[in-house]
Amino acid sequence: MIAIGADHAGYEIKEKIKTLLKTMGLEFQDFGTNSTESTDYPDYAHLVAQSVGAGKSEYGILVCGTGIGMSIVANKHNGVRASNVESVDAARLAREHNDANVLALGARLTPWEKAQEIVKTFLTARFEGGRHQRRIDKIHTLTNL
Ligand code: RB5
Repeated sequence: MIAIGADHAGYEIKEKIKTLLKTMGLEFQDFGTNSTESTDYPDYAHLVAQSVGAGKSEYGILVCGTGIGMSIVANKHNGVRASNVESVDAARLAREHNDANVLALGARLTPWEKAQEIVKTFLTARFEGGRHQRRIDKIHTLTNL
């Protein structure tokens, strides 16, 4: 299951991502928003991040104007590793090295042609584990402070 959400700035890209996920044969849950009417990105980022953090969704995809606000909110949730990504290489590395489980996209900064490649790459690249797992473990513990 993939949790997906957007604010007004990301609404149109979110709808296109839903079509893409259908063609990829992937199940998703849409947490809104449902129009281009002005709204607040934390409302949707919290819902998507909750779903991922609770293990109800394997991945989350969030879209706002820049992806920045969405990623800030999502990263406040336990178990969530959100990455604000603007390139295909960063999407691949976010999965391979960081085991990112939430992708945050900026609709105003990323044309759809690139955004769809980013989504496809994020959902197909695999975490490499090994030394990266040790680093992931350190993200979620405060024992090194
Ligand atoms: C909305 O204008 C904009 O601030 C929002 O979509 C997002 O870019 C925030 O990070």
